[in-house]
Amino acid sequence: MVLFNPEELSERAGIDIERAERILRIARRLVRPVKALQASHITEYGKEVLTTGVKGIDELLGGGLRTSELYEFAGEFGSGKTQLCHQLAVTVQLPVNRGGLGGSAVYIDTEGTFSSERIVHIAERFSVKEPLESILYFRPINVVELEDFVVEELNALIRDKGVRLIVIDSIIALYRSQFKGIEWLARRQQRINYVLDWLKRLSTLYDIVVVYTNQVLTQPVPFGVAIKIPAGGNILAHAATHRFFLRKTRGHIIMEVLDSPRLPYKATALFVIKNDGLHDYEG
Ligand code: GTP
Ligand code: MG
Repeated sequence: MVLFNPEELSERAGIDIERAERILRIARRLVRPVKALQASHITEYGKEVLTTGVKGIDELLGGGLRTSELYEFAGEFGSGKTQLCHQLAVTVQLPVNRGGLGGSAVYIDTEGTFSSERIVHIAERFSVKEPLESILYFRPINVVELEDFVVEELNALIRDKGVRLIVIDSIIALYRSQFKGIEWLARRQQRINYVLDWLKRLSTLYDIVVVYTNQVLTQPVPFGVAIKIPAGGNILAHAATHRFFLRKTRGHIIMEVLDSPRLPYKATALFVIKNDGLHDYEG
């Protein structure tokens, strides 16, 4: 409940805003006292780290993916976004002393490309037993289902099922196909923002990692070569804590830092995909 803001609670419960504010203030005091921290203590937060299982990528990430942060991986088709999501749904199950978070994953699959067979192959490599038991899979058929799941159901799942990772592969597919045309753009952006905002609230409250993938657009440049950029415009550009771009080349895939408060711009890691998941590219 403390995840709601007064406007949302007021609308849902049919009560006026002032009353909703009062209720939320009391509820928050009970479960989450708001305290400013001395900056020297901030490292106490968000310091749990999740390995990707690929040394070069972990190094690029400054050790791995951190809890309470949102990660976006954008890239063209076949650049390994879905494979990376599969691998993280396995590594999150590893115990902390092996780079995992000892938890389970929620896997939201908007494109229908989840494969339990891939999970099993990757899990064998990391000696994770019964990996599918710790992956909660959801396949929304439209944006309403996606939004309802994120807003209404994720909270209880995270609380009750030891979830430490939320994967959304991809964040944009349903919106792109269901809000076509310029006249729907503002509405589409507003709704993507709403879902992302909820993911942020959940990741902070429960200290979990959020990972989502994004498609790319070709942006024509006058008198130049068209460049590829992540889809979703400004809203997506500012939502994630860290953004990466995946690019296929002959023989390997390049992961590049696109935007991050902490990681060097344009730093890269190289990887390849094998039957048992992502590996470092060994030249
Ligand atoms: P889109 O969702 O289409 O945008 O692409 P994506 O970025 O999600 O790509 P995905 O992660 O599905 O990567 C696809 C690539 O992974 C393929 O081109 C294959 O090279 C590789 N791949 C997938 N499964 C296997 C496998 O079982 N064995 C091997 N060796 N490679 C695989
Ligand atoms: Mg994919």
